[in-house]
Amino acid sequence: MIGMELTKQEQAMLDGKEGYAVCKSMEILVALGEIFGAKSLIKVGSVQVAGVSYQNLGDAGLEFLNELAVDGRVRVLTTLNPAGMDLENWQQLGISPEFAEKQNLVIDAFRRMGILISCTCTPYLIGNLPLYGEHLAWSESSAVTFANSVLGAKTNREGGPSALAAAFVGKTPNYGLHLDENRVPDVHVQVNAELTKLSDWGALGYAIGKKAENKIPYITGIKSVELDDLKSFCASVVTYGTKPLFYMKGVTPGAESQNQPKNTVTIEQSDIKNAYDNINDEVSDIDFVCVGCPHCSIKEIQEIADLINGKKVVEGTELWVATSRTAKQLADKRGYTATIEAAGGKFACDTCMAVAPLKGRFKALATTSAKGCFYSRQSLMKTKMGSMKECVDAAVTGKWNS
Ligand code: F3S
Repeated sequence: MIGMELTKQEQAMLDGKEGYAVCKSMEILVALGEIFGAKSLIKVGSVQVAGVSYQNLGDAGLEFLNELAVDGRVRVLTTLNPAGMDLENWQQLGISPEFAEKQNLVIDAFRRMGILISCTCTPYLIGNLPLYGEHLAWSESSAVTFANSVLGAKTNREGGPSALAAAFVGKTPNYGLHLDENRVPDVHVQVNAELTKLSDWGALGYAIGKKAENKIPYITGIKSVELDDLKSFCASVVTYGTKPLFYMKGVTPGAESQNQPKNTVTIEQSDIKNAYDNINDEVSDIDFVCVGCPHCSIKEIQEIADLINGKKVVEGTELWVATSRTAKQLADKRGYTATIEAAGGKFACDTCMAVAPLKGRFKALATTSAKGCFYSRQSLMKTKMGSMKECVDAAVTGKWNS
């Protein structure tokens, strides 16, 4: 006996009339709906699936995917989060053949399901661009936050299996951030700090995440912001503490129609400094520079190419540019790839520093990303966060100089 109202077709799916994968998916969706008090399922416009790296899936995860891939076929546009390696140039990134073999089996299962093998955390930059108000089932936390807060779409932060289930059914349980009553901001954040470089947005995300503590912030005081800043901010603010939704006055569609919460916190310059102090470790020798968390836009790749043109990555240090394959193909055409590779930099398409098997491989990371620092510490690296220029300088000197 279930409390959720199912249509005849949904009930038939649950009864196994549309195959194994759909039946299993309905079981997952109904169980989730029951736990969170959903009354029904709603259609989703697209799905974004995390849990793609073999490092996180292991053999049990691969087996689960292979079982679903027998008859499971996605019903809506479905894209993938980064995998554990560059699917084409994994050797160059030092990935072992054993890992590559398993990762390719994972990708093959997703391909059989009809999923676009896009492997990026910026699906909105490569053609999975939701509409305002559209319901989604996305997994990657930075992308979920971007979809909710910058685009005004509606998605919970799905786990890998629930996103996959939504893709096979084309629906998700109607609870959480799908409902307007759960999208009301509950803390006002007045930003008084000056933000001058990309990494300041990661620091701001850290500061707000810590002060807003699992709330939905209504952010005022932002004077100007660019797409790449928002991309970085979305990754950071949810990593360090908020729900995957914020309202930013002048940015978020519909922010003006929300009441500004009375409970106010402020972000001062000292909060930004405190964020850097907490994110940065005491370290000066850098053996790994990784930019592109979330995945680099073409504009960021252009900036890296301009900064590194005519220079050389120092021996003993690696520079990775993490991006989508789509952005890399544009970079190929524009000549940025040739410039970066001539300097000794490497492209890490389809993957990132958090999901590649890097534990114990590097000692100290330099990056533009607060989220990248959070996850790299789990891979036992010391971390430094700074501007794109500071990161490129670290790549060519092997030192952190600020
Ligand atoms: Fe994307 Fe990986 Fe960062 S998934 S947001 S590049 S940790």
